[in-house]
Amino acid sequence: MGLESPFIPYVATLKMSTQLTPDIKLLSVELKDPDTRAGFDYKPGQFALLSAFGEGEAPFGIVSLPGQGDGLEFAVRRIGTVTRALQELEPGDILGVRGPFGNYFPLEDYAGGNIIVIGGGIGMAPLRPVINRILQQRDDYQQLLIINGARTPQDLVFQPEFPTWRAAPRTRLELTVDRGDEHWKGRVALVPDVVKELAPSPNNAIAIICGPPIMIRFTLSVLKNLGFKDNQIVTTLEAKMKCGLGKCARCNIGDKYVCQDGPVFTLEQVSQFLEQP
Ligand code: FES
Repeated sequence: MGLESPFIPYVATLKMSTQLTPDIKLLSVELKDPDTRAGFDYKPGQFALLSAFGEGEAPFGIVSLPGQGDGLEFAVRRIGTVTRALQELEPGDILGVRGPFGNYFPLEDYAGGNIIVIGGGIGMAPLRPVINRILQQRDDYQQLLIINGARTPQDLVFQPEFPTWRAAPRTRLELTVDRGDEHWKGRVALVPDVVKELAPSPNNAIAIICGPPIMIRFTLSVLKNLGFKDNQIVTTLEAKMKCGLGKCARCNIGDKYVCQDGPVFTLEQVSQFLEQP
């Protein structure tokens, strides 16, 4: 839906705040006005601006799906004043929401194909609605391979959902960490190395990737060696956004603004602007 004025936030209430990792919280937010709430439609990959009144506003990918779960959900990592203020909100507190903004992952276009989802750290956040939408419409897609990496086992986001993802038909979840601990029995490897080892086929496949720039850079190189073409690799550059509104000029990539033209791009659209390893 369109906003009456994109500059006026909707008033919302924090319903729940859940610690996902030591520095990331999942905020479940409910728009106060029932009509606005019912009309707030969005797709995986889109973002909204959250405001902590008195502190400021910042863009965040929407990590829920319409009609599923507890209202609008956002994964907020503590990195500055606004994110700290958002993390400190208690259930019942008021915050502002503007959105939805941006383009989205065109998942309908990938129907009938194999999907490889590759996420690192909080980069898994915008990929969560992608995974959950595919699971919702599971018959529309072939194999789903999810590769989720983080620095340590505690930094793996959305752990409560892993059993559901694992149990879904034709779905494989591979976890990896850079550094294990005494309880970790899984992989200790970098995401690009796991992609290389699993070597997904590029035939009828789309790779959707999000994570730290270094992970993206080396993973792209592995995918290309496996035969993936630039139009088979899709990413969201939402982490590059600051104001989210085309005002700060800090999100440009070539002649595009991530917040205006994205945040979702194929590698074909942005490869010349990404550093290659
Ligand atoms: S995020 Fe400020 S101009 Fe795009």
